[in-house]
Amino acid sequence: MLTEAAARPRTIAVDLAGRPYDIIVGRGLLAGAGQRIAALKARRVAIVTDRNVAAAHLSTIERSALAADLAVSPIVVEPGEPSKSFATLAEVSDALLAARVERGDLVLALGGGVVGDLAGFAAAILRRGVRLVQVPTSLLAQVDSSVGGKTGINTGRGKNLIGAFHQPSLVIIDVDVLKSLPAREFRAGYAEMAKYGLIDDADFFARLERSTNEIFAQGPALDEAIAKSCAAKAALVMRDEFETGDRALLNLGHTFAHALETAVGYDGSRLVHGEAVAIGMVLAFRFSAFLGLAPEADAARVAAHLASVGLPTRIGDISGEVAGPEKLVEMMAQDKKVVGGALTFILAHGIGKSFIARDVPAAKARAFLESLAAA
Ligand SMILES: NC(=O)c1ccc[n+]([C@@H]2O[C@H](COP(=O)([O-])OP(=O)(O)OC[C@H]3O[C@@H](n4cnc5c(N)ncnc54)[C@H](O)[C@@H]3O)[C@@H](O)[C@H]2O)c1
Ligand SMILES: [Zn+2]
Repeated sequence: MLTEAAARPRTIAVDLAGRPYDIIVGRGLLAGAGQRIAALKARRVAIVTDRNVAAAHLSTIERSALAADLAVSPIVVEPGEPSKSFATLAEVSDALLAARVERGDLVLALGGGVVGDLAGFAAAILRRGVRLVQVPTSLLAQVDSSVGGKTGINTGRGKNLIGAFHQPSLVIIDVDVLKSLPAREFRAGYAEMAKYGLIDDADFFARLERSTNEIFAQGPALDEAIAKSCAAKAALVMRDEFETGDRALLNLGHTFAHALETAVGYDGSRLVHGEAVAIGMVLAFRFSAFLGLAPEADAARVAAHLASVGLPTRIGDISGEVAGPEKLVEMMAQDKKVVGGALTFILAHGIGKSFIARDVPAAKARAFLESLAAA
């Protein structure tokens, strides 16, 4: 049972110069979302969501907005990464215009990272920018994509290549919506949550190790871990909104992860993003150990924890054939623009002690991956 104190929503204030906003984390928040949105003094709210999320949660938030005297226009897109496209952006933009969403109104993104990125970008460019409320419904979106203001779509040339920074006016995180999230998606989001411990908070990682069961049972430890993750991301974003420095630490595990996602052709049935990040973070720690920077024991501890929740931790855990070391390094080079044969990685001196390494020779990365293949 939740105690009353634990059930009270937590507020994380994000203080970006001139554009402060709150992240609210709690239970049952969808039913009261209308009041919070009305407090932003909008007349109309366009709710962009996908078909899966609409089936489970749209009516609750719609009813709440209507009860708060808001005009409501739902816009439902197909679930999945292909919706982060120019074609769907055009459809959503047209629907927003047809619904007469004006400068003072709001776009509300109700969904996972796909809906958040797509609706966020539509809000950024509609009439040169209308306000955005994020109501993330996947664990990944709750701990990562809904915070920080990056929005965008994919093109045939790659992911997230067209987009804008557009900070939300409010983020409402209703932990209860995760009850309908598929287990595999929950685990994938958990990988991004563990990332914050690995970056710079060894205590948080240790707490996650201790409370895994409660988190996966969606008890109060989950609310606390989500709030902690949002605070960690917000802190990095406040330090470096446009990623000229420390914000890059959030890419821990992602150089390897993006290469693996590319290697499987972004086939979500073989590998979803959070799973790629789980493998990528283990590789980042093993690579750090390989370079003599971190204890091998820390790499083993990271792998053991992620494996204990059912996440993949080795390239060999991916079903089917995956490109070899040579090809993977080539993909990383493309992803990160090689400067004189050097790659950028987030490496670590240990758990909670990550740093940006901008000068890692591609040859070292290849030697590391070959050492794994030989083992
Ligand atoms: N903007 C950023 O900073 C940022 C950061 C990380 C990831 N991303 C982006 O986020 C996207 C991935 O996000 P995602 O993992 O949330 O994927 P997603 O939005 O595709 O959601 C995953 C699946 O879960 C379903 N779903 C979501 N919430 C649900 C719920 N409560 N109940 C039932 N089903 C639900 C969705 O319909 C979808 O099928 C990628 O496009 C990635 O590029 C953006
Ligand atoms: Zn990620």
